Amino acid sequence: MSVPTRTTAGATPTADSARSALLNGVEPDDLSRDPAADTPLGLAFPDGFGWGAATSAYQIEGAAKDDGRGESVWDTFSHTPGRTKNGDTGDVAIDHYHRYAEDLDLMRELGLHSYRFSISWSRVQADGTGAPNQRGLDFYRRLVDGLLERNIEPLATLYHWDTPQALQDRGGWESRDTAYRFAEYAEHVYAALGDVVPVWITINEPKTVVQNGYITGHHAPGKRDEPLAYQVAHHLQLGHGLAVQALRATGSSARIGPAFNLHPCYPADDTAAAAAATRLYDGYENRLYLDSALRGHYPADVLADQGPDSPLARSIRDGDLAIISAPVDLLAVQYYTPYYVTGEGSTEQRHATSEAFWQQIYPDGMYDILTRVTRDYGPLPLTVTENGLPCPDVLGPEDDINDVERVAFLRDHFAAAHRAIADGVPLESYHVWSLLDNFEWDQGYEERWGLVYVDYATQRRILKRSALWYKRVIADNTV
Ligand code: FCB
Repeated sequence: MSVPTRTTAGATPTADSARSALLNGVEPDDLSRDPAADTPLGLAFPDGFGWGAATSAYQIEGAAKDDGRGESVWDTFSHTPGRTKNGDTGDVAIDHYHRYAEDLDLMRELGLHSYRFSISWSRVQADGTGAPNQRGLDFYRRLVDGLLERNIEPLATLYHWDTPQALQDRGGWESRDTAYRFAEYAEHVYAALGDVVPVWITINEPKTVVQNGYITGHHAPGKRDEPLAYQVAHHLQLGHGLAVQALRATGSSARIGPAFNLHPCYPADDTAAAAAATRLYDGYENRLYLDSALRGHYPADVLADQGPDSPLARSIRDGDLAIISAPVDLLAVQYYTPYYVTGEGSTEQRHATSEAFWQQIYPDGMYDILTRVTRDYGPLPLTVTENGLPCPDVLGPEDDINDVERVAFLRDHFAAAHRAIADGVPLESYHVWSLLDNFEWDQGYEERWGLVYVDYATQRRILKRSALWYKRVIADNTV
């Protein structure tokens, strides 16, 4: 079974070939020629609906050596020649570590209700084990206090891909021990912030670590070993479950759940072969994570496909699935793109792609995935913790950034979420990826995903058209 990933979406391994595939095949849905993109549709959201934005530690903080922070796999990876575009690293990123107060004020200006950020494990434990580093924890305390002062709910993710390098040297997530180290790290974080953080996310997109970190190697730690990747999947899921249990053991009433990037999978044609291939594809993309965390078993088709002697099968011990399926309070859904699967198990492109060539723009996929998880796994409160679009943002002469494509994209995805809520999906909040332009992993700083533009030379922040539009949506609670 070959899986697609954000860097190899469809059958196209490079951005350039993906673009020419687009020109030769599918006509772009021309979002940029939608002059009425910011005209309200009149779709009112339920009272109390939470409007937010998201970031992650390595992508924004910088300050790579400040206050006792240790190295993570992303420091190593981005400093390895040829791994990121232009050799970009997160050493400075958008200097959020030093500019967080300004960024908090931006959030207040937009009227955000909720801010989803991640905590850097190697700020809390430089080498991933042992006593916590108080200076690292103090940064997050200042950040969370600043959010609460501004009436913004903190939604903290414990792990957004930045494994401490010292743990990676001992096997990282290939090793079962890392799941236990992760739970210990989580305990330190709960002890320091448990009284002020009401919502926790355990692990961000385990699937991306599996596919990009261990199958294609486009992300840290840059390995290419497909069977081993599914052992990594099991340990990530185990780490999730252990972190849930660790929170419950503190007696906290905070809520907790995993964040999965879910992909609606559709057959590319109406043959029986495409239907069967799509089913298995869905197993790898969605059910591997959803079934284990929410039903306490791995999907039988994926287990059979991996085989009884596979690293996945061999890494599962008695009792693991009970830990992995420790009850959660919410499910965080991240939606970017659908997949269309052929009878041979490859994928086809059906919609225009964004600047991120792995992303096909298909708002109805948001509706389909939200209604599907509610139907198959509900009722469980849902939050969208990521959804967004990279645009070729250019700073205009009047300090304006006319990202009308992003406005149209968000409008259409918000409308799809609205339709899902109307059809009974318990969606409580929505976080746009991203609050600010930032370090987009192997793509470096070339892709801009923010509502807020960052001039990387000066670190100046400027609201884009989409930010001003979003501010109006939040104020009116209406798209
Ligand atoms: C998600 C990641 C996030 C960002 C967006 C574009 O998969 O969680 O860090 O890279 O994609």
